[in-house]
Amino acid sequence: MDSADFDALEERARAKLAPAAYAFAAAGADDEITTADNVAAWRRLRLRPRMLNDITRIDTGVSILGVRLETPIMVAPFGRHRLFHPDGERATARGAAAAGSVFVLPTTSTVSMEDVAAEPSAAPRWFQLYLPPDRALAENLIDRAAAAGFRAVVLTVDQPVYGSSPRAARAPLKPSPDIRNANLPGQPIAQNSYKPDYSGRVTFPATWRDLEWLVRRSSIDVLVKGVLRGDDALRCVEAGAKAIIVSNHGGRHLDAAVATADALPEIADAIAGKAELYVDGGIRRGTDIVKALALGARAVLVARPVIWGLAIDGADGVRAVLDHLRTELVRSMALCGVPWLNEITSDLVAGK
Ligand SMILES: Cc1cc2nc3c(=O)[nH]c(=O)nc-3n(C[C@H](O)[C@H](O)[C@H](O)COP(=O)(O)O)c2cc1C
Repeated sequence: MDSADFDALEERARAKLAPAAYAFAAAGADDEITTADNVAAWRRLRLRPRMLNDITRIDTGVSILGVRLETPIMVAPFGRHRLFHPDGERATARGAAAAGSVFVLPTTSTVSMEDVAAEPSAAPRWFQLYLPPDRALAENLIDRAAAAGFRAVVLTVDQPVYGSSPRAARAPLKPSPDIRNANLPGQPIAQNSYKPDYSGRVTFPATWRDLEWLVRRSSIDVLVKGVLRGDDALRCVEAGAKAIIVSNHGGRHLDAAVATADALPEIADAIAGKAELYVDGGIRRGTDIVKALALGARAVLVARPVIWGLAIDGADGVRAVLDHLRTELVRSMALCGVPWLNEITSDLVAGK
C-alpha cells in the first residue's frame, strides 16, 4: 500500500466504503470548522531546526506510563471498526501491534474486548470508556478490561451529548444485524448518532465526582481524554488521572472548539510534568509529531488515517499508516538535528 499521501489514501478508502461508513468517519460537527482547524493548526507552526548535530542514529523510543515503546504514535479510539473492515477491531489491534503502537479499544467496539485481548501485542492496549449512567455496567466494563489485560482506562469526557453533523445525517448508518456493540451485549448500535435536533438526552453524564469514583474503583490507571483547558487538566491530575489526552474528539461534537495544537501549550504549562500528556486531532505528518512533542506532548494519537488504512488493507493497512508516520518522524528528527525524542523542546517551534 502506498500510504505516502493521506489525502489520496482517504480517496481510495472513500471509493471502497459504503457512503454512510465514509461519512461517519470523515464527518465533523456542524460546519466542520474544528475538524479542519485541527489539521491547519499544526500546519501553521514553523520549525527552528538545529544544525551540525550528530544524527547518524535516530531513536524514536519513548516511555509511556512506565513502558518502553519504540514509537510515540498511538491509535486513537474510534467506534465500530467493522464498518470499515470485516475483521474490525481485531485487524486494527494486529496492525497496531505490528507497528509497536499502543492501541486504544473503544467502548463501542464491534469485536469484544476479550477477543481483541487474545491478539498478541508487545505494546500495551488501553480501554476507552464512555461512562454509562448504569454503575453496574460501568463496573462490568472496567473489571473486564483489567481482567483481559488492558493496562489503562481512558475516560472520554468531551461527549456529554452528541454533536450534530449535517454530513453524517445526510448518509445515515443503517442498522446491520452482524455489526453489534460487542462490549455491551444486548445494546443495539446507534443508527445515526448525529441528529440535527437536540433531544436533551445526556448520553455520557460523567462529572468530577464520577472521575474521582473511577480512579478509586479502577484497578488500572485512569487517563482522561478530551481536555482543552489548563484548569481542567490540572483538576483531572489532582483527581488522580495518570495522563491527559488533549483532544476535541476530531471536531466531531463541539464545532468551533479550539484546535488541539493551540490548546496544548496552556495544558502543558498547567500540569507542569505532574502527569503524562498526549495529544490527538489532525496529526498527519512526521513534522506534526515533532511540533506536538515540542509543545509538551509525550506521544500522539491518530484516528482517521488509521481508518483509511484499515478500510483499504485491514491490519496491513493500519500498520502501513503507522509505519509511514514513524518514517516521516525519523526523517523530520534528522532534519531538525534531534536524535532523541527528549531533545524535542519548545524552542524547535518558532515563536514558542
Ligand atoms: C469515526 C470516529 C469515531 C470515533 N469514536 C470515538 C470514540 O468512540 N471514543 C473516543 O474517545 N473518541 C472517538 N473518536 C475521536 C478520536 O479518538 C480522536 O480524538 C480524533 O478522531 C483524532 O483526530 P484525527 O481523526 O484527526 O486523527 C472518534 C473519531 C472518529 C473519526
